[in-house]
Amino acid sequence: MMGLVNTVKQFFDDRYDTKLAGELISKQAFKRLPPHTGWLHVLGSLSLLLFISQTITGIMLLIYYRPTPEAAHKSIQYITAEVQFGWLYRQIHAWGASMMIFAVILHMIRTFFMGAYKKPRELTWVTGVILFILTITFGFTGYLLPWNQIAFWATTVGTESASKVPVIGDWLQYFLRGGDAVTGETLSRFFVVHVILLPWALTGVIAVHLFLMRLSNLATLERVGEEAPLKPEHGIPFFPVHVAKEGVVVMMMLAVLVTLSVVSPWEIGEPANALQTPPHIKPEWYFLPSYQLLKYFEGPYGALMGIIGCSVPFVLLLLWPFLDRGKERHPRKRPIAVGLGLFGLLGAMFLGYLGHISETEQTFFGQRYHITLKGWPVPLDDTADAEPPAH
Ligand code: HEM
Repeated sequence: MMGLVNTVKQFFDDRYDTKLAGELISKQAFKRLPPHTGWLHVLGSLSLLLFISQTITGIMLLIYYRPTPEAAHKSIQYITAEVQFGWLYRQIHAWGASMMIFAVILHMIRTFFMGAYKKPRELTWVTGVILFILTITFGFTGYLLPWNQIAFWATTVGTESASKVPVIGDWLQYFLRGGDAVTGETLSRFFVVHVILLPWALTGVIAVHLFLMRLSNLATLERVGEEAPLKPEHGIPFFPVHVAKEGVVVMMMLAVLVTLSVVSPWEIGEPANALQTPPHIKPEWYFLPSYQLLKYFEGPYGALMGIIGCSVPFVLLLLWPFLDRGKERHPRKRPIAVGLGLFGLLGAMFLGYLGHISETEQTFFGQRYHITLKGWPVPLDDTADAEPPAH
């Protein structure tokens, strides 16, 4: 065995500057991280590992999936019922999508509250926001692929909002759908975006993100411009200490994914039917805040204001490191930024919750309510007045 290893080593030594390559690798592997690096710093790696898991399970699904309106739904049924472990790949892929978006959001919250976006890491943050947008686009395009009723109609409603964009709206909707309505053309487009464009785009942007992160190392909690160079005896070695934490998190991630897959499997649903609209069409949880926000914009300029209202948070996120120029990084010393961040986060959660319960019946403190489209609770014996009076 050792003889073989030595022969392989000799093969490379004779041809490449292996000493330089070895130095580069060990410099990265044993790099010291700031002393406060802990479990919260594992969320980026968790996002990455979920992306890898999505890629592997996605490739397994691609072997049997057929992207046509006639075959898509049947092929998912086939994967679930006939293919060995097909049900497991499908469940891990479906749950993994939600979990990846959740992990990316938690990672974004962590870097926001620890002020890690401040100079010199502004571009690490900007590439992160691009990753966030790409990740939710992954969710949007993947949702249609099983070609079931809920996916078909959620995509119909989702792409309809595109037509509200000023000037190019109609063109944009046509471009997304590949026609006037959601058809096999839309399925083809979403498929190509989901399995070719987005995986490569995400891989490329993740590479830049990680490269930038490694160049400037992880942020400390010192003020901007006062980050002292890390003394090796104070830092935490990436390998083995941080890598061990990442290992624990991967194991937990896999355990949670398999448990969810078994305990609460995703339904395949009825095949898409363009002639029959289901009663309540709601998007996935990560689109619920925008879905709910859009409902409050009415009148002649309502659609335009709605689009602006939903885009502003993303633009703000992209520009945030250039807007918040304060020097402090520690959350306790940045009350305004932390307050605004909490306000945005709780606002999005509240809107998402309203979106989730809208058009349902709920019980609060023993009283049954009908929750209107806009999230207004109306006691159930008084549903005639469905909307609150206009102010
Ligand atoms: C697919 C999505 C993403 C992946 C795979 C990823 C990966 C990573 C990894 C592995 C790190 C190292 C430290 C850590 O885990 O905290 C990191 C750091 C960082 N990420 Fe991400 N990230 C993603 C999305 C985002 C998003 C959405 C943002 C913010 C908008 C972001 C902003 C940052 C920042 C500012 C750092 C530097 C942290 C520091 O210096 O302490 N990332 N990312």
